[in-house]
Amino acid sequence: MQRFRDRVAIVTGAAGGIGTAIADRLQAEGAVTIVADLKQEAAKAVAARLTGDHGGQALGLGCDVGVESQVEAVVREALDRFGRLDVIVNNAGLMTFKTLAEWTEEDWLTVIRVDLLGAAHFTKQAFLHGGEAGCAIVNVASIHAVQTSANAAPYAAAKAAMLSLTRTTSIEGRDRKIRANAVLPGAIDTPMLWDNPNVKSGAETIDPASVGAPADIAAAVAFLASDEARFVTGTSLAVDGGRLAKL
Ligand SMILES: NC(=O)c1ccc[n+]([C@@H]2O[C@H](COP(=O)([O-])OP(=O)(O)OC[C@H]3O[C@@H](n4cnc5c(N)ncnc54)[C@H](O)[C@@H]3O)[C@@H](O)[C@H]2O)c1
Repeated sequence: MQRFRDRVAIVTGAAGGIGTAIADRLQAEGAVTIVADLKQEAAKAVAARLTGDHGGQALGLGCDVGVESQVEAVVREALDRFGRLDVIVNNAGLMTFKTLAEWTEEDWLTVIRVDLLGAAHFTKQAFLHGGEAGCAIVNVASIHAVQTSANAAPYAAAKAAMLSLTRTTSIEGRDRKIRANAVLPGAIDTPMLWDNPNVKSGAETIDPASVGAPADIAAAVAFLASDEARFVTGTSLAVDGGRLAKL
């Protein structure tokens, strides 16, 4: 399948487990992929790997998604170099752990800046610079947007708000051909999962059969970002091996 031939896609947090898989999938299907991550050198290395594996063009850029000026710079560079912007995958994320009594205002703002405002900043850019062909936005939220566990209040709150942002984007984007959808990964085999203190302590138990691969998320994101999903907007897709379905 080459659903993204001649399309330009930005994937944030694309030096991480899920983001790299998403970037790989889009590049394999013909996209020009901008790999944006806080870790600039890692982003460049991923971009080099994408072109090595699949050909075409990819660009690795350093970007703190929580800083609007840095988001603007990434979009400006994408437009200057490639002339269009078709897909934005808001995947960069941060999960930290404290009890409700321990969280400081600074802690809350740190998580919200990355997990919510990062997506809002890129969404604004789609409205400012999306061409006539429109733009497909995919927000990588989490099953924590719907159910959660102890000690992750800012993360769960930010991911829940991300679903709301997705709905608003679909409403305001309708006349601009801007679609927005969210993917809710369950437990996915990346360092973020295994570094989770709730998982390490056994407070959150995960059946090994309920652990998915980054490629499972990439497949869902690619569908939602593609023209095959042209009539799909404002929705959320759990990709969790059925965890949310169980009482
Ligand atoms: N792994 C899971 O089980 C799981 C489950 C549900 C949701 N998710 C979500 O999937 C997304 C990707 O997670 P992952 O498992 O690949 O984690 P990861 O830690 O492997 O990757 C996250 C990436 O985001 C980058 N990042 C962090 N802060 C950033 C910032 N301010 N600006 C730009 N980049 C930044 C990191 O450098 C890293 O490369 C996250 O949004 C996460 O919340 C993951």
